[in-house]
This record gives sequence, structure tokens and C-alpha cells, in this order.
Amino acid sequence: MVKILENVNLKHMNTFGIEAYAKSFVEIENTDDLTELIQNKTFINSERLIVGGGSNLLFTKNFEGIVVKNSLKGIKIIKEDEEFAEVQSAAGEVWHDFVMWCIGKDLGGLENLSLIPGCVGASPMQNIGAYGVEIKDVFSELEAVELSTGKKQIFNKVQCKFGYRESIFKYELKNKFIITSVTFRLSKKPKVNTSYGAISSELESMGVSDPGIKDVSQAVINIRSSKLPDPKLIGNAGSFFKNPEVESSVFKNLKARFSGLAAYEMENGKYKLAAGWLIEKCGLKGYAKGQAAVHDKQALVLVNKGKATGDEIYSLSEYVLGAVFSKFGVKLEREVNII
Ligand code: FAD
Ligand code: EPU
Repeated sequence: MVKILENVNLKHMNTFGIEAYAKSFVEIENTDDLTELIQNKTFINSERLIVGGGSNLLFTKNFEGIVVKNSLKGIKIIKEDEEFAEVQSAAGEVWHDFVMWCIGKDLGGLENLSLIPGCVGASPMQNIGAYGVEIKDVFSELEAVELSTGKKQIFNKVQCKFGYRESIFKYELKNKFIITSVTFRLSKKPKVNTSYGAISSELESMGVSDPGIKDVSQAVINIRSSKLPDPKLIGNAGSFFKNPEVESSVFKNLKARFSGLAAYEMENGKYKLAAGWLIEKCGLKGYAKGQAAVHDKQALVLVNKGKATGDEIYSLSEYVLGAVFSKFGVKLEREVNII
């Protein structure tokens, strides 16, 4: 039987460590819980928010509806041949544990995404990506349940409309479905992807010349641990903004004015600018406003120095947006989901 709790503090359920209260709160551990919940009066009559690891959320106020913590567990291989295995994970599995499970079975494709916080169910939300790989590269399908009807639906890759930190679930279908499981098509004969410069130099300093998926995973873990703040030590949600994509004319113009501009050309001829570089060049690396700060090692990450409110972090993000726009004429977009 699902147990709906009232007035629950979410401080330990969001990696920013923001104190915010949910009017109602429920944790679901199996599909029966979900079926029961969807027929529950409180659920039907409330605004809903699904939460996994809370690592891409900023609470700027209390949530006056029902927070559903997705704790559905289980990983299994559902299909395989000599080359590939289709691995299905329930949405509540911890992402990094799932990646390690796959690596432990010698299944390749997710190793570059090691150590990303959060749960499997949120991974399609923004098509998580790092070090040259996005989940869309190995995504097979997901199963989701419509919150208003309880109907199960399968979404394939095309239907998910994946883009850079985007999917249909972040926009058109926002808050309409709960993702219950995700299936990935992983390789039994993996070719490692070391195209991202930092990976090859890390492998070199590890003394590895012919890397396998375990080595790439370890290299990624080493790089991430040295660059990104650990939410257990200082509250944050990873990159607060997306790296902006601009037309080549805009890039050329900026490059002429700022020769060190960090950017790379995309397949469509546009350029992706490193937002961390733009923020740093505004002199904001390490900048603090009250308890909210720009991280002093990675300017794309905003941090909670201890007692920040969500409003403080949000207002710092406004300040950063304004500074980048007035110096470079480039409008940053937030990556983190604002509640
Ligand atoms: P939550 O924060 O709980 O939720 C995020 C969104 O997804 C919310 O809108 C929520 O309503 C929705 N949601 C969650 N679960 C479900 C579900 N089952 N069904 C429907 N909707 C759901 N991201 C990257 O892409 N690449 C990185 O390299 C990266 N590095 C990070 C580093 C750090 C230190 C941190 C703190 C974050 C980083 N992130 C990164 C962001 C974050 O880890 C990912 O976005 C992750 O997928 C969020 O998972 P979560 O379970 O914590 O989601
Ligand atoms: N840079 C600076 N100053 C900074 C930060 C970065 O000049 O303070 C420059 C770096 O020198 C480098 C460039 O910006 O030239 C890119 O930096 P980095 O490799 O650290 O990656 P990023 O663009 O800042 C993105 C993702 C991360 C992902 C890494 C690795 C986005 C919004 N962020 O960060 O994802 O882990 O690449 O692939 O795309 C996240 O989404 O939460 C996240 C952490």
C-alpha cells in the first residue's frame, strides 16, 4: 500500500541541498504502487513532480502538490545476440551503479557516462551526455506511464525527440508521464570512444595504451572527480546552463574580439561555445552572492555554500545571464529544472 506523507522536507532529496517542503510526498517501489497511486484522490487532485536523485532540480519555493520519489528497481538483459545485448533498467536504479553493472558484464556504450549523478529514469529527460557520448547513442526504448490515465506507453528513440540536453519529456510532455524503465542496446564487442581530448590524456597518465571500457570509465571518473564539485560536500546540480549554440557569423565575430574563445564546430555548421569560459571571462569564477556562488574550479556550476535558498541561487543565475549577455551578446539558457 502506498503511503502518502504530508509536509515533507526535500533538503536531502535534492543535490543543491535546498530546504523546500512538499505538501504531499510518496515513494513508489513497484508497479503495483504506481497503479494504486494513479487512482489515489490526493494524486489525482494535485500538481505532480516526479523525482529521482534530485540532481537536476532547483527548488525556489515549496512544492504545493505531490512529489513522487521513483524507487523502482531491477536490471535485466531482455534480448541478446553475438554482438549486442538489450539491457533494461528500472527507473529508480542509481545511474552510476547501472553503468558499473553493464561494465561488469563487459557491455560497452555507457562507460563515458560514468559517475553522472541521478537515476536511470531521469536519463532520457535531458538525454544526459558527457565526454563525447549521449544516451541517445545507445538508447533503444523506454516505458512510461501516463499520469492522467495510467496507460503504459513505449517510446522509441525518434519519439523521444532527443537533442542536446533535451527530449520530448522536458518540453511537450513535461510532467505528463512517469518513466518506469529504460532499455539500452549495448555492444558485446565495444569500440571505446576516446575522442574527447581529456580522456586520451588521462589514459596516457594512467599508463594505458590499449584501453578497454573499464579503463575509459576509470579515466572519466578521474577527470570528473578532479573538476566537478561533489554534491555530498557542496550543494550543486552540475552545469547550471547549457553551452550555447550560435551561427558561424556570430562565432567569427566573437573570435575576432576574444581570441581565446573556447568553442567547437558542430555537424550543422553552427558553433557550440563553452559557457564556462564565457562566465569565467566575465570575472565571475568563484563569485559569491550571499550563500550562492559560481564554483571556483568550474564556472558553469553554481553552488550552495551551505544555507542558500533556491531564490538566492536563481538570482545569482540571473546575474550571470546578464553579465554574459552584456559582455558577449550571447543569451545563456538554464539546464537545471527550476521548480
Ligand atoms: P532529478 O533531478 O530527480 O529530476 C530531473 C528532471 O527529470 C525533473 O524534471 C524530474 O521531474 C524528471 N524526472 C526524474 N525522474 C523521472 C521519471 N522517472 N519519469 C519522469 N520524469 C522524471 N548531466 C549530464 O547530462 N551530464 C553530466 O555530465 C552531468 N554531470 C553532473 C554532475 C554533477 C556533480 C551533478 C550534481 C549533476 C550532473 N548532471 C549531468 C545533471 C544530472 O545528474 C542529470 O540530469 C541526471 O540525469 C538527473 O537525474 P536525477 O534522477 O537526479 O533527476
Ligand atoms: N572552461 C573555462 N572555464 C571554466 C569552465 C570551463 O574556460 O570555468 C572551458 C574549458 O577550459 C574547456 C571548455 O570550457 O575549454 C569546456 O569545459 P569542460 O570540458 O569542463 O566541459 P563543459 O562544457 O563545461 C560539458 C557538460 C558537462 C559534461 C562535460 C564533459 C554542458 C552544459 N555541460 O561541460 O555536463 O560533464 O561537458 O563532457 O554541456 C551537466 O550537464 O551537468 C554536466 C556537468
